[in-house]
Parts: sequence; structure tokens; C-alpha cells
Amino acid sequence: MDAADASWWRHAVVYQVYPRSFADGNGDGIGDLPGLLSRVGYLHELGVDAVWLSPFYPSALADGGYDVDDYRDVDPRLGTLDDFDALVQALHHAGMRVVVDIVPNHSSDRHAWFVEALASPRGSRARDRYIFRDGLGAGGSLPPADWTSLFGGPAWEPVGDGQWYFHLFAREQPDFNWDNREVRDDFLTTLRFWSDRGVDGFRIDVAHGLAKHLGDELPDQATLDELPREGGHPLWDRDEVHEIYAEWRTVFDSYVPPRTAVAEAWVERSRRPRYASPEGLGQAFNFDLLEADFDGQAFRRIVEDNLELAALSGSSSTWVLSNHDVVRHATRYGLPVPDDPEEKRGGAWLLAGGPETELDRERGVRRARAATLFVLGLPGSTYLYQGEELGLHEVADIPADRRQDPSFFRSGGAEIGRDGCRVPLPWESTGASFGFGGGPSHLPQPSWFAPVSVAAQRHDPASTLSLYRAALRLRRELRAGEELEWTSEAAGDVVSFLRPGGWEVVTNFGGASAPLPPGEVLVASAPLGDGVLPGETTVWLRR
Ligand code: GLC
Ligand code: CA
Repeated sequence: MDAADASWWRHAVVYQVYPRSFADGNGDGIGDLPGLLSRVGYLHELGVDAVWLSPFYPSALADGGYDVDDYRDVDPRLGTLDDFDALVQALHHAGMRVVVDIVPNHSSDRHAWFVEALASPRGSRARDRYIFRDGLGAGGSLPPADWTSLFGGPAWEPVGDGQWYFHLFAREQPDFNWDNREVRDDFLTTLRFWSDRGVDGFRIDVAHGLAKHLGDELPDQATLDELPREGGHPLWDRDEVHEIYAEWRTVFDSYVPPRTAVAEAWVERSRRPRYASPEGLGQAFNFDLLEADFDGQAFRRIVEDNLELAALSGSSSTWVLSNHDVVRHATRYGLPVPDDPEEKRGGAWLLAGGPETELDRERGVRRARAATLFVLGLPGSTYLYQGEELGLHEVADIPADRRQDPSFFRSGGAEIGRDGCRVPLPWESTGASFGFGGGPSHLPQPSWFAPVSVAAQRHDPASTLSLYRAALRLRRELRAGEELEWTSEAAGDVVSFLRPGGWEVVTNFGGASAPLPPGEVLVASAPLGDGVLPGETTVWLRR
């Protein structure tokens, strides 16, 4: 790692760690920073360039840590600031960068500022840091509007004195008022706090939600749903949000090398580049592949589109097949495609009906391996989610009384929620938690974890883990510029492209075999026949 390289993020492979489910150092069933520290060698061998930590801050876990009590500390169950420093040092020493999650749209309801707001009268400075409103009706007993939160249930919560506060997500996640200068300054302090501790970059949660303009008259939910999202929506993707990031940019650029950021912004295509501009956060997630079927031409269009968007912003593109909010891609690709396109986003509800009965496990993994190898050949950066390197499937059969995701509870179980991709990793094939920690883990692990554990795959050259390692090693060696030239037609199941240095990536998205193009085989997602590229397989060739 070149510590001074300011453009590392443009082509980095970033590995997302969900800290509570990665490795448990003290055996209490919850993953922690010492556990992660003990696995730095694993990440190094895997060959990723950076590690992104989902929130590890003090939290009551109303939303898996995305409900933050204190932005400048470590949850005592996960460790201490000293553990954090040791982790950063170890990752840096092993040549990896560190990215942390910043959750600026809302705090938790246990944050000192929210506790103070509740204890303070209406109109107070403390309440102005959040979004409080008088209720309607006698004594303000009715909510200011009929809005629903993204996790289901009402978005306005009464506080007992006729006022209500607003939350886009769970009740325990009150939204900040970003018109408030103290809120703005406090986040600048937080960004400096972690940058000073050596953090290289930030992943910005719900980056398109911070700026809000509610106005005097609140529309009803039906009207709100119909409003265009092109800069003037009361809640989403308002133009002013970029003033916030322009301030953040001055903080990022005050470090050497500049700290980086990537926006989680679910916005219209045309609005994405602004988040990714060098005056703003610098990079924005492209989630298009999360919503795409395993379809060659769909993949190709997404790639073309996002390379164009990246060029517009001057950023590099970001490829994501899995993260902590969606059904794992091995499972998505092994399930029948739903008829209703609305049902497809993230795929979470694919599992809601009757888990696993329709899942073709082998096919899902086969396709997942092919998709991953396709994506790792693209220019730009790739974000991997812990466990995908094992070809893990979603865990569908978590009993209701063990589930944790607020979207499950707030929807009365109608949404299965995101726990199934957050089950602690299997490191060993045996033991109470498959080597995750000492005793049982905080989310139950299924028996089928045994044959897919790290230990089971580590020395098997045909394993998914070995495939990821080989591909990441080659990717480093082959790294060459940003160019991509299509070598297949814009039709058909075989999609291929050439990268500088004669590196060709060929994916057969179809079920039937195709001829294998000429060239030296560098790596393949499945065994190749003689001159044959089997279905649902990717190969890297040197031409
Ligand atoms: C983002 C996170 C998700 C979280 C939500 C609220 O979408 O990725 O996990 O629930 O924000 O913070
Ligand atoms: Ca622990």
C-alpha cells in the first residue's frame, strides 16, 4: 500500500464487515473489534484493498447499530477506542485502508442530544436539533401528518406535551434537523475525530436524506409519494444537501491523503453524479446490480450506464452485488424471478413467501461466482460483503423470536427483514458457533454452514474462497487504467470485454455452453471444457 496514494479508492476492492457478525473475540455471541483484529490475516490473504466497518458505535441496536448513541466512541460490547486504534494500525500494517460508516440522517433516541430534547420545552434550542412539530387536534393529540416510516408504522411519534418528532426509519431513530448549525458542526467534529485516528474514508448512510424542508403545511402521504424527486421533494435528495457535503469536503481535503467518502444515495440516475463529484462526497454507490436479474444484456447496460455516469462526475464507478440490506446474491440468483418488478428491489421479499422451497442452491452459487468474476473485471471499485467470498446463501429460517430487524417487527412480520444476510460467519465446520466465538451466536446459524466454513474452503482449490483469492490477486497484477472495450455483440447471452494489457473477461450468462474464445485462461468461475465455456460461467483470458 502506498500510504500517500490519493486515488486508491478509484479502483479499490472494499470488504464490508458487519462487526457484530464477523468474529467474536470474547465468546459472548456478539462479534467485536478484537475478533476482527484476530482475522486481519484472513482479510490480507483474501486480498482486499480496504475494509469498511458498518457501525460499531454505542447503540441499543434498534436498527443493527444504525441507531447511534454516540458518534465518537465504540460500543463497550464491541471493544474500546484503544481496540479501534489497534485495528486501524493492524489493517494499515497489512496494507489495507479503513472506511467507517457515518450515520448523519438520524441519531438514536438515546443520544445525549435527543434525551436533552425530550427533557426540554417546545421551541428550545435542544428541540431544534431534531424535527419536532405540534400535533393536530385538541392538545396536539393527533400526528402532524399521516406519514409512514420506511420500516413501516407511523413516521411521527408523540412526546407527551403535544409535540411529535419525525423519523424516516424506526421510532428509535429521530431525524436530525440539518438546518441547525450545531448539528452541522458536530458532524464536522466527528469526521475529524475519526480522520485523526487514521480512518481513510467514510461510507455515508442515507446521504440523500439529510436536507429536509417540511414547510408550514404538510402534505399527506399519498401526495408526498407522488411528488417528483428532482431537488424539491420535502424529504429526499434536495439540492441543499450538497452544501453539507461541500463543507465535509473541506475537512476531507485537509488531510493527506484526502479522506474519501462514498454516498449511499438511492436517487434518480441523473442525480447520482452530484453526490460523486470531487466537490462533494467523491463517490456514490451504484446499486443497479442489486436489482438486476442474472441477465447478460441487463448487466451490460448497467455497466455502460454507470461508466458514463462516473465519467460525468469525474469519479469511478462502484459495483455492489451484496450488502447488509439485501438478500445475498447467491440466493437471489437461485430463486425464480418475481413477476412484479416492484418486488425485486433488493429481493428481500423473495424469501417472504415460503423460504427455500424454490431455491436452487447450486445454481445460485454458480451464477454468483460468475457474476462476481464479471464484476471484479470491471474498471472502478467493488464493494464485497462479508461471507460472499464463501458463496454463502441467505439464512431464511430464522425463528421470529430470534429476529432483530426492525422492518420485520414494524411490518408485523410481512417483511422478512435483513437478518438473513447478517448471520455470523462460519469460520470452522464444527463447534457451538462454527468458530465465530465461544458459545452460540446472537443470530442462529444453520447446520448447512458446516461445509461452507472458511476451514472447509481454505485448502480446496475449487472453493468459492479460493476463487475470490485468485481473482483478487490477479486483479492487482492486471490493474491497468479505466478503459473497457466490449468484445461481444449487444445481444445474446455471452458478454465480454477487454481491459488494457490484453485482459479479457467473458461471461456466459445463458444456460447452454458457448465456444471458449482464444487466449490463456487466467481464472474461471467453473471448470471449463475443451474449447468450451459452460453456461453461467465467467473466464478471464489473456489475449
Ligand atoms: C441505510 C443502512 C441500513 C439502515 C438505514 C437506516 O440504508 O444501510 O442498514 O437500516 O440506512 O440507518
Ligand atoms: Ca464479543
